[in-house]
Amino acid sequence: MKLKLIYASSVLLLFVLLLTACGSDESNSANQNDNSDSENNGSGTTELEILSWWTSGGEAEALNAVIDGFGEEEPNIEIVNAAVAGGGGSNSQAVLSSRLQGGEPPAVFQAQGGFDLLRWQEGDYLQSLNDLYEENGWRDVFPETIIDMNTIDGEIYGIPMNVHRNNMIWYNKKIFDDNGIEPPKTFADFFEIADTLQSKGIIPLALGDQNPRWSTLLFEMALLNELGAEDFSALWTGNEDFDTAKIRSAVNTFSRMLDYTNENHSSLDWQDAADLVASDEAAMLIMGDWASGFFMSRDLVANEDFGWVAAPGTEDIFNIVNDSMGYPTGVENAEEAEGFLAYLGSAEAQAEFNQLKGSIPARTDIDVSDFSEYSQSAAEDFKNLELNLSLAGGSPVPAGFLSRVDDAINTFVTQRDPDMLINSLEEAKSLLQE
Ligand code: GAL
Repeated sequence: MKLKLIYASSVLLLFVLLLTACGSDESNSANQNDNSDSENNGSGTTELEILSWWTSGGEAEALNAVIDGFGEEEPNIEIVNAAVAGGGGSNSQAVLSSRLQGGEPPAVFQAQGGFDLLRWQEGDYLQSLNDLYEENGWRDVFPETIIDMNTIDGEIYGIPMNVHRNNMIWYNKKIFDDNGIEPPKTFADFFEIADTLQSKGIIPLALGDQNPRWSTLLFEMALLNELGAEDFSALWTGNEDFDTAKIRSAVNTFSRMLDYTNENHSSLDWQDAADLVASDEAAMLIMGDWASGFFMSRDLVANEDFGWVAAPGTEDIFNIVNDSMGYPTGVENAEEAEGFLAYLGSAEAQAEFNQLKGSIPARTDIDVSDFSEYSQSAAEDFKNLELNLSLAGGSPVPAGFLSRVDDAINTFVTQRDPDMLINSLEEAKSLLQE
C-alpha cells in the first residue's frame, strides 16, 4: 500500500513538473525561473505567485495588465506569473491540487466560482475572505449571484474577477458577407449555413478539443437549446433522468455539429480553433467570450472582422462562467498577499483586466463605456437575460462529475454512440448527489 502511494505520488510529481515546464513556455511570466511560493528574496522585494491558466491572447494580456498595475503601486512586491498552459484549466488545477496538498501553495490562484473553487475548502485549503470583503465594501459592489457562487456556510472564499458569457457563436464576418450568410438563430439555420460553407470547402465550425472541455461546451449548447435554462440547471440536482427524448435529441444535435468541424480538432486547444476563424479558414467558433479578448489581441475589429450571436436557441440566456481568485491557507507574507487580493478586487484592476479579457467586470460600479462594443452589450445582457451557470465552466457540478462528463464526451466524439454517452451520464449521476 505504502509503495503504491509512493509510486503514485512520484508519477503525480513528474506530471506536475512536466506541466509546469510546458506551461512556462507559453506564459508571459514576470519571472519564469522562480516557482517558489511567496517569499522575500533578500533584496527587499517580496515575491508572490499567482497561479492560473491564462496563457494566450487576451487572457494573458489581461493578467499581465493587473500584474503591472499592482507593480506600479507596490514596487517592492514582485508578482510571479505561474500560469500553466491548457485552456479550461485542467492542467493548472492538477498543479494547484498537488501544491495545496504538498504545503506549497501559490499566494493566489484562479478558479471558477462554484464547485470548482469551493471543493478546496473540503481539505481546509482556503482562507475566508470575509474580512477583506468588509474592509473593501465588496458586498455592495459584487452581484449577489456571483458572491453566492463563491460562498459556503457564510464564508466567502473567492474574489470574482469577471463574468463571462459562455453561450456565444463567434463568426468570421468576411466569410459570412462573401457568402451572403446571416448569423444563425436556430440549429436548423446553423446546419443549413454549415452545409453551404462545407460545400465551398470552408470549415463551418472550428473546434480544438485537445481538452475535451471544449466539446463538452458544444454539448452544453445543444442541451441548453433543447431544455431551456431551468430544466438544464435542474439536471445538476442529480434527481433528473438523463435518458429522455430531449436529451437524446441534444446528443443528436451535438453529433451533427461535430460533422462540421476541422479534422485535426483533437490536437488543438481553444485558441488554435479561434485562430482558424481569425485566419479565414473556418467560419464559426462556439466559445465563451474570452474569444472576443482573443480576437482583439489579434487586432481584429469587431463587426468588421468578427461578429457574434448567441448560440442557437439561447438568446435569452446568459450562461455564466465566473473566474475568481482563491487565497490558500499557509501563504507566507500574508500582508502583501492580502494587499494583492485587495488590488484584484479594486475598480481599477477590474477595469484593466476585463477590457482585455473579453469579460465584463464582476464589480457592478464600473463604467463600461470605454469597453469594446461586444462587452458593452454583454454588460446589458447580464442585467436583462436569464442567468444560469455553465456546466463546462465547472460551477454547478462537482469536479468529479464534470471530469466523468468530459471523458464520456471524449469517447462520444470518436465513437458517436448515443447509448454509451447517456449510460455514462446516468452512471455519473450519483456524484451529483453526494
Ligand atoms: C475558462 C476560463 C476563462 C478562459 C478560458 C480559456 O475556463 O474561465 O477565463 O481563460 O477558460 O482558457
